[in-house]
Amino acid sequence: MSNIEQTLSIIKPDAVERNLQEEIKIEFKNNGFEIINEKKIHISKEEAEKFYKVHESKPFYNDLCQYLSSGPIIVMKLQKENAVLENRKLMGATNPQDASDGTLRKKYGISIDKNSVHGSDSVENAKVELDFFFKD
Ligand code: CMP
Repeated sequence: MSNIEQTLSIIKPDAVERNLQEEIKIEFKNNGFEIINEKKIHISKEEAEKFYKVHESKPFYNDLCQYLSSGPIIVMKLQKENAVLENRKLMGATNPQDASDGTLRKKYGISIDKNSVHGSDSVENAKVELDFFFKD
Protein backbone atom coordinates (compact mmCIF):
# COMPACT_ATOMS: atom_id res chain seq x y z
CA MET A 1 0.00 0.00 0.00
CA SER A 2 1.31 3.44 -0.77
CA ASN A 3 2.20 5.78 2.07
CA ILE A 4 2.84 9.20 0.62
CA GLU A 5 3.97 11.58 3.37
CA GLN A 6 5.09 15.17 3.64
CA THR A 7 7.93 16.35 5.82
CA LEU A 8 9.73 19.58 6.62
CA SER A 9 13.30 20.12 5.54
CA ILE A 10 15.40 23.15 6.42
CA ILE A 11 18.62 24.07 4.66
CA LYS A 12 20.39 25.74 7.58
CA PRO A 13 22.42 28.99 7.62
CA ASP A 14 25.81 27.27 7.20
CA ALA A 15 24.71 25.69 3.91
CA VAL A 16 22.94 28.78 2.55
CA GLU A 17 26.01 30.83 3.47
CA ARG A 18 28.11 28.49 1.33
CA ASN A 19 25.54 28.70 -1.47
CA LEU A 20 24.80 24.97 -1.34
CA GLN A 21 21.01 25.23 -1.59
CA GLU A 22 20.70 24.29 -5.28
CA GLU A 23 23.05 21.34 -4.87
CA ILE A 24 21.12 20.12 -1.84
CA LYS A 25 17.77 20.53 -3.62
CA ILE A 26 19.11 18.40 -6.49
CA GLU A 27 20.03 15.72 -3.92
CA PHE A 28 16.42 15.67 -2.71
CA LYS A 29 15.06 15.49 -6.27
CA ASN A 30 17.53 12.76 -7.25
CA ASN A 31 16.34 10.78 -4.25
CA GLY A 32 12.71 10.95 -5.35
CA PHE A 33 11.50 13.83 -3.20
CA GLU A 34 9.10 16.34 -4.69
CA ILE A 35 9.54 19.90 -3.40
CA ILE A 36 5.91 20.93 -2.96
CA ASN A 37 6.64 24.34 -1.49
CA GLU A 38 9.76 26.26 -0.50
CA LYS A 39 10.79 29.68 0.70
CA LYS A 40 13.91 31.51 1.71
CA ILE A 41 13.44 33.28 5.03
CA HIS A 42 15.43 34.81 7.87
CA ILE A 43 13.72 34.08 11.17
CA SER A 44 14.10 35.90 14.48
CA LYS A 45 15.56 34.26 17.58
CA GLU A 46 12.05 34.25 19.10
CA GLU A 47 10.70 32.30 16.11
CA ALA A 48 13.61 29.85 16.34
CA GLU A 49 12.82 29.36 20.04
CA LYS A 50 9.22 28.49 19.15
CA PHE A 51 10.30 26.14 16.39
CA TYR A 52 12.80 24.27 18.57
CA LYS A 53 10.62 24.34 21.71
CA VAL A 54 10.97 20.54 22.12
CA HIS A 55 14.66 21.17 22.87
CA GLU A 56 13.94 23.88 25.44
CA SER A 57 15.46 21.94 28.34
CA LYS A 58 18.65 20.98 26.47
CA PRO A 59 21.93 22.71 27.25
CA PHE A 60 22.40 23.54 23.56
CA TYR A 61 18.98 25.23 23.16
CA ASN A 62 20.16 28.84 23.32
CA ASP A 63 23.04 28.35 20.86
CA LEU A 64 20.77 26.35 18.57
CA CYS A 65 18.17 29.13 18.39
CA GLN A 66 20.83 31.78 18.02
CA TYR A 67 22.31 29.81 15.16
CA LEU A 68 19.08 29.07 13.25
CA SER A 69 18.28 32.78 13.32
CA SER A 70 21.81 33.86 12.35
CA GLY A 71 21.19 33.99 8.59
CA PRO A 72 18.82 33.03 5.78
CA ILE A 73 17.45 29.49 5.61
CA ILE A 74 15.45 27.57 3.02
CA VAL A 75 12.35 25.81 4.35
CA MET A 76 10.85 23.12 2.13
CA LYS A 77 7.77 20.95 2.13
CA LEU A 78 8.98 17.62 0.77
CA GLN A 79 6.78 14.78 -0.44
CA LYS A 80 7.62 11.15 -1.08
CA GLU A 81 6.62 7.63 -0.09
CA ASN A 82 7.61 7.38 3.62
CA ALA A 83 9.07 10.89 3.35
CA VAL A 84 9.79 11.35 7.08
CA LEU A 85 12.00 8.28 7.42
CA GLU A 86 13.47 8.62 3.93
CA ASN A 87 14.52 12.20 4.65
CA ARG A 88 16.15 11.15 7.92
CA LYS A 89 18.08 8.46 6.08
CA LEU A 90 19.22 10.90 3.42
CA MET A 91 20.33 13.44 6.05
CA GLY A 92 22.32 10.94 8.12
CA ALA A 93 23.29 11.19 11.79
CA THR A 94 22.89 14.52 13.60
CA ASN A 95 26.64 14.83 14.09
CA PRO A 96 28.33 14.92 10.64
CA GLN A 97 31.26 13.02 12.19
CA ASP A 98 28.95 10.05 12.78
CA ALA A 99 27.04 10.31 9.49
CA SER A 100 27.45 7.60 6.84
CA ASP A 101 29.05 8.22 3.47
CA GLY A 102 26.68 9.64 0.91
CA THR A 103 24.41 11.35 3.44
CA LEU A 104 23.82 15.08 3.31
CA ARG A 105 25.31 15.78 6.72
CA LYS A 106 28.42 13.78 5.87
CA LYS A 107 28.81 15.64 2.58
CA TYR A 108 27.97 19.15 3.71
CA GLY A 109 27.90 19.32 7.53
CA ILE A 110 30.64 21.10 9.43
CA SER A 111 29.76 20.31 13.05
CA ILE A 112 26.85 19.10 15.20
CA ASP A 113 25.47 22.66 15.19
CA LYS A 114 26.33 23.50 11.60
CA ASN A 115 24.94 20.25 10.24
CA SER A 116 23.46 21.87 7.10
CA VAL A 117 19.97 20.35 7.19
CA HIS A 118 17.09 19.77 9.57
CA GLY A 119 14.33 17.24 9.00
CA SER A 120 11.21 16.35 10.99
CA ASP A 121 11.81 13.32 13.22
CA SER A 122 8.29 11.83 13.15
CA VAL A 123 5.08 11.99 11.15
CA GLU A 124 3.45 13.84 14.04
CA ASN A 125 6.23 16.44 14.27
CA ALA A 126 6.26 16.81 10.49
CA LYS A 127 2.66 18.07 10.63
CA VAL A 128 3.47 20.53 13.43
CA GLU A 129 6.67 21.75 11.73
CA LEU A 130 5.03 22.11 8.30
CA ASP A 131 2.23 24.10 9.88
CA PHE A 132 4.79 26.34 11.53
CA PHE A 133 6.24 27.50 8.21
CA PHE A 134 3.48 26.81 5.68
CA LYS A 135 0.09 27.72 7.02
CA ASP A 136 -2.12 27.60 3.96
P1 CMP B 1 18.37 19.27 14.18
O1 CMP B 1 18.01 18.02 13.48
O2 CMP B 1 18.07 20.57 13.50
O3 CMP B 1 17.65 19.29 15.62
C1 CMP B 1 18.18 19.97 16.73
C2 CMP B 1 19.58 20.42 16.51
O4 CMP B 1 20.31 20.68 17.68
C3 CMP B 1 20.37 19.35 15.81
O5 CMP B 1 19.94 19.23 14.48
C4 CMP B 1 21.79 19.86 16.01
O6 CMP B 1 22.20 20.73 14.98
C5 CMP B 1 21.69 20.66 17.30
N1 CMP B 1 22.48 20.10 18.40
C6 CMP B 1 23.49 20.70 19.05
N2 CMP B 1 23.99 19.91 20.01
C7 CMP B 1 23.29 18.78 19.99
C8 CMP B 1 23.35 17.56 20.75
N3 CMP B 1 24.24 17.37 21.72
N4 CMP B 1 22.47 16.57 20.42
C9 CMP B 1 21.55 16.74 19.43
N5 CMP B 1 21.45 17.87 18.69
C10 CMP B 1 22.31 18.87 18.95
